[in-house]
Order: sequence, then C-alpha cells, then structure tokens
Amino acid sequence: MTLIKQYIEENKQRLLDELFELLRFPSVSADPKYKPDVLNAANYVAKKLTDAGADNVEVCQTAGYPIVYGEKIIDGSLPTVLVYGHYDVQPADPLELWLTPPFEPTVRDGKIYARGACDDKGQFYMHVKAFELMMQTDTLPCNIKFMIEGEEEVGSSNLGIFVNANKERLKADVVLISDTSMISMENPSLETGLRGLSYLEVEVTGPNRDLHSGVYGGAVANPATILAKMIASLHDEDNHITIPGFYDDVIELTETERAELNAAPYDEEEYKKDLDIAETWGEKGYTTFERTGTRPTLEVNGIWGGYIGEGAKTVLPSKASAKISMRLVPNQTSDKITQLFTNHFLKIAPPYVKVKVAPHHGGEPVVTPTDSIAYKAAQKAIAESFGKQPIPTRGGGSIPIVALFEAELGIKTVLMGFGLDSDALHSPNEKYDIFNYYKGIETIPLFHKYFTELSK
Ligand code: BES
Ligand code: MN
Ligand code: MN
Repeated sequence: MTLIKQYIEENKQRLLDELFELLRFPSVSADPKYKPDVLNAANYVAKKLTDAGADNVEVCQTAGYPIVYGEKIIDGSLPTVLVYGHYDVQPADPLELWLTPPFEPTVRDGKIYARGACDDKGQFYMHVKAFELMMQTDTLPCNIKFMIEGEEEVGSSNLGIFVNANKERLKADVVLISDTSMISMENPSLETGLRGLSYLEVEVTGPNRDLHSGVYGGAVANPATILAKMIASLHDEDNHITIPGFYDDVIELTETERAELNAAPYDEEEYKKDLDIAETWGEKGYTTFERTGTRPTLEVNGIWGGYIGEGAKTVLPSKASAKISMRLVPNQTSDKITQLFTNHFLKIAPPYVKVKVAPHHGGEPVVTPTDSIAYKAAQKAIAESFGKQPIPTRGGGSIPIVALFEAELGIKTVLMGFGLDSDALHSPNEKYDIFNYYKGIETIPLFHKYFTELSK
C-alpha cells in the first residue's frame, strides 16, 4: 500500500467526521437569515487550515462574506499551487423533497447526502485533507496557497476586488479547482472549459392593479400571457436564440475538436431514463455534449405572476416576472450579452405593457489549456489513482473566478473535479460518494508531486 493510501486508511473515520461537521453549517450565501452560519463556516475552514499546518491563515473581510486564506511556503524556488474553492452553498429549497435534512449529513448506500456535499464543501475539503496528509507524511513537494470564498453561489461579486488588492499574496503558477464533474468513476475526465453567465430579471406590468378576470378579461392584456409570448419568441423552431447579434462572437469548434468531444462515452437512453424524459431537446445540429459544453443557451430559471396559492382565484394580474440566464461560450462577454438581451427584450415589448429588465450577476466563459505542465500533472495523477487516462470534456456550469484569475493574475486553471452530474448539485438530495471523497484525497497529492516534477 502506498503512503497516501495508508494515511487515508488510518484516518478514514476522522476524514469523514470533519467533512460532516463542515456540512452541518447551513452556509447559504443567498439568504441573509443564514449570515451567522456562513460566518461560522468560514471560521471552521480557517481553523481546519491552521490545524492541517497552514501558515498566515486569515479570514479576510470583504464587503460581503469573507474569503479564507492560508498558505505553506516551503521554498521560494519551488512552484506554487493556488487552491480555490467555496464554502457557501445554494439554498436547500424545496425542503419537502429531501429524504433526510439537508444540513444533517446522512450516509445511504455509500453516499453522503447533504447540501454542499459535492458543491463544493466535499470537494474543496479534499484539498485541505490532502494538504494535511502531505504535511503529516512530510511529502509536500511545492508551495501551496488556499483561497476559499463564501459568495460563489451568488456571483462572487467581491472577489474581483480582493484578487486585485492581493495580487502579490495570490501569486502562483497554477490555480487548482475541484468544483466540477467527471463523466463517471469508470470514465474519469477533466473539464477543459466552463461556460460564462449572464443573469437577468424581467418584469412585465399591465394594468396598474390586479383586476377581476371576468370584468376586465379580454379587454386588457394579461402580463403573464404577454411575458410567456415574449419568452417563447426568444427561441426559433430550431431552438436557436433569436436575439440579434447573440451568436456574433461565438467561436465554432473545428471538426476535430467536435469529434474529440463526442468521442466521450454518452448513452442517450441512460440520459433520458435518468431524467424521465421522452426526448432530449436543444439547438439543431449539435449533440448533447456540444449543447451543454460548447454552445450558448438561454434558460428561464423562474417565472411567476398572479395567483399561485391554494385553490383558484379569478384574477388578471398586474405584473408577471421571470429570472432568465444565458450561458456563454468563448468569445462572448457577459456585459455585451446582457446589453443585447436588454435591448431586444425592450424592443419586442408590445404597447399594452411596460417592461423592465434588471441585470443580476455575470461571469466570463473560459477554455483551459490541455498542453500545460499542470494539465499533464492532473492527467498523470488521475491515470495513477483511477488506473485510467482521463477524458477531456467541456463543462456546462460556470465558475466566474476562473476567467478572473486569468485576467487579473495571468494564471491558468486546472479543473480537477470529482463530482458527478448525477450528484444533484443545486437540487434536493445533493450527494457525494464517499468513494469519490477518498479518491480525491488520494489523487490531489499526486497532482502536486507530478506538477513539481514536471516543472523542473
Ligand atoms: N460548481 C458549480 C459550477 C459547475 C458545476 C461547473 C458542475 C461545472 C460542473 C458552481 O458552484 C456553480 O453552481 N456556479 C454557478 C454560477 C454562479 C455565478 C452562481 C452556476 O454555474 O450556475
Ligand atoms: Mn461550486
Ligand atoms: Mn454551485
């Protein structure tokens, strides 16, 4: 047994207990009611970094939730890895759909069920424990810095300021992030890109008050109907997005790149069965992998208006609203897309309603290099711990910090995620396989080892 495996084996229960303790903090960044819990989670992370052997640990205050920093500099001439993660989580709603409480981690069938189990507590904590392992076994081969934030799930709006003000402190040769998915444990993969995001809220106002739908219905435009029509018009019959200029900056993949991407294992029947859908849906001319990884999209995240309580109420609502997000790909930019959407949505508004568009947060798309030393180190590490070469894939999700690190610090990222798409991120009954947790702790020290070796 290797030193790494032996350490994990000997500390098995404690490694799990500590993660459970972290998962018990309901660190929901979106809901102010959880403010004390978010702060407690930050302090717990700081304590655990200190316990593991990090120096200069600091809970760095921002205008929002703090960023936890810690480092171990063993030799200025060795390479430095900056580990990024987030201790905040998405809201747990709808609570009634959880089989066990979201903030009381429970093991069923070898999997940990809890909000944040995979996204991202279970994943970033592997790095804290892998660091502890390297310290305890005296095998840390390079310098390491940790930056664990608390606002990723709400758009990381204070992170840019922090990164800009701490350029020297954050200096590193590579950013390492475990906050993405693999195809499966049998088919380990590395994500080589992430989509950007442009998030907005729209409001359609009709009459100045809710009306009796019998007295006025038929003579006054219903904002819910108008909103539904406006939203429906944003896709054409081929499911292309109809906003003028939307695709102007999109880089089309070469045929070789497309072939490579589509070579990854994908079972359409399994995919449909898992989601209980009769057919997949999407932009004409593209496969599922291409649609989620390389094409921009527009989604309604929420839509409301009028009466949604028990029973029936006959009402013609005064207002209807929706939260709309667009996933972006290189070289689209969130500012430009937000502007294009806003212009278009105001333009298609019929005269019987007033329309407001309010932007939320954004993030830029990225493609990460596959010819770098760091990527090769990740490949080697995974090949060794999984016994199989990782497949490159493009992730559909967004981690805004990745483009920011590149722009502000000039550092590229390796996305070495150990989650699965089926881990129910942001959904009820989020889970993380205990196997993946230990596998991550096993793989991470190998990354540091090979990254240091290949850097020589
Ligand atoms: N970890 C996810 C992003 C992710 C998940 C990337 C799976 C690739 C595969 C991250 O926490 C997240 O949820 N990001 C948000 C964006 C943010 C600005 C709210 C997202 O993608 O919706
Ligand atoms: Mn995440
Ligand atoms: Mn998330």
